[in-house]
Amino acid sequence: MSKLRILVADPLSEEGLSVLRRIEGAEIEIKTGLDEAALAEAVAGVSALVIRSGVKVTRRVIESADCLKVIGRAGVGVDNVDLDAATERGIVVMNTPSGNTVAAAEHTWGLLLALARKIPAAAASFKAGKWERGKFVGNELCGKTLGVVGLGRIGSEVARYAQAFRMRVLAYDPFISESRAAEQEITLAPLEELFEKADVVSLHLPVTEETRKLVGVKLLGKMKKSALLVNCARGALVDEAALLAALNEGRLAGAALDVFSKEPPESLDLVLHEKVVATPHLGASTREAQINVGVQIAEQIEAVLSRNVYDNAVNLPITDFALVEKFGPWVELTGRIGVFMAKFMTGGVRQVSISCAGGCTEALQPLKLTLLKGLLTPVTAGGNVNFVNAGFLARQRGITVESSSTDRADYTSQVACSVVTDSESLTVVGTVFGGELQRIVRINEFHMDVNPRGHLLVIKNADVPGVIGQVGGVLGAAGLNIAEYRLGRDDQRRNTLSLISVDSVIPESVMENIRAIPAIQFARVVEV
Ligand code: NAD
Ligand code: MLT
Repeated sequence: MSKLRILVADPLSEEGLSVLRRIEGAEIEIKTGLDEAALAEAVAGVSALVIRSGVKVTRRVIESADCLKVIGRAGVGVDNVDLDAATERGIVVMNTPSGNTVAAAEHTWGLLLALARKIPAAAASFKAGKWERGKFVGNELCGKTLGVVGLGRIGSEVARYAQAFRMRVLAYDPFISESRAAEQEITLAPLEELFEKADVVSLHLPVTEETRKLVGVKLLGKMKKSALLVNCARGALVDEAALLAALNEGRLAGAALDVFSKEPPESLDLVLHEKVVATPHLGASTREAQINVGVQIAEQIEAVLSRNVYDNAVNLPITDFALVEKFGPWVELTGRIGVFMAKFMTGGVRQVSISCAGGCTEALQPLKLTLLKGLLTPVTAGGNVNFVNAGFLARQRGITVESSSTDRADYTSQVACSVVTDSESLTVVGTVFGGELQRIVRINEFHMDVNPRGHLLVIKNADVPGVIGQVGGVLGAAGLNIAEYRLGRDDQRRNTLSLISVDSVIPESVMENIRAIPAIQFARVVEV
């Protein structure tokens, strides 16, 4: 058995490494501090890449990876991974979302208290032998307003600690409902109002195209002169030049920063500023958090490599992966229908839709991706289509994808897959009998009962006597054995569609003889 190579490219706790070392057949390589070129070279032949926030997994790195299945980030932010590039290549990116929540929330509060009470400057002065009680007068937090931007795991924890300090908490998070905030005794407020009213603004949101430099001239201009800004999330959320100007011009009382747009920062202007308390990205740096995230990511990598289980994947559009196993035969059937349709149809695909009825409706989301995977695999170079990149590849080809559930169906539980191409449209309906037996039960208007696998010959002909005999004769003369001959007729009994399962590959010369039978309108071979 060839070794599964796992590359650990940032420091990982010993506890996490021991979990990786126990993965059967795995070979662990630890190479930290690599630049882009060295990392691109190191990922060749690697199945799993484990990182923290040190290395940058760029498109160039991802494109150099020839068998990478998973990138595991020990921590929350995946902003050091080119997610689009990973998704395009079908590489799962996962993180450990909760392992360092407490560490980051406690650090936020450490920074806030240090800033409000001027603790670092006072401690430095004392260590320098001075006793300057009058110089370091701080401000109390009790009774003041904390404005939390991003009310997720860390933001909520920070808000909880604020309540112990008897602070009022306002929050801005467009993805959190009023009722969810009210349960936490937090009032939601529009972003500008939060910046206007808060005595302390604390950032706990991810960096996205929308949030990059969110805190700039405009929002800083809304803040009270006495207010404090805390950033223990990501440096790129703040326009650092605008922050420096606000501090210099006395428009803001102070800032506590754990994160910087470039780390380590090129300029120390903010770090050295007398109104700033700064730490070098230490939010998650507790022994407990490092064990948590190290062990968690190692266990998640083990689950991917050994059992195909994907926890905390950030680019996998399936929310409940257990459904893939629970509906195994349905997943297999839908994948086969997808392959069948891809090979049967002509013209560029424009539209794909899937509609489930009955029990399989629960698995609509994975079945939709499975259908896309089946449809796109035969037409994608390298054939590497999976749940991660199926949606992306469909969008890239301009295919619109729809999914729905219905209670109008011929079978108690069925999956109906429809594809519209530039030249035709096709609907294939499938079902699973007795929990196992996969069958195509309808192709367009033709009802039938076909096992969708193997070498299939699909024939449409006028419903006249003798066609079965003639087709059988041509196949028999070529020494080709028929395993199954299934046919369905349209309601007017004008045409017949037949699916003939043959034991071996049907040569083109035989197909020509079949197409020459007068009643035959078309004949195509489909390998599923
Ligand atoms: P989370 O996903 O639980 O919470 C993020 C919240 O931000 C979500 O509720 C989301 O709805 C909200 N959000 C998204 N876009 C927003 C927007 N435009 N405006 C307002 N809110 C928005 O994440 P988390 O675990 O709480 O982490 C929060 C941040 O802290 C992340 O940026 C993470 O990378 C960072 N972090 C830093 C450290 C550190 O060492 N300093 C440690 C852990 C996490
Ligand atoms: C995170 O996103 O988890 C933190 O920034 C901590 C880290 O980078 O390790």
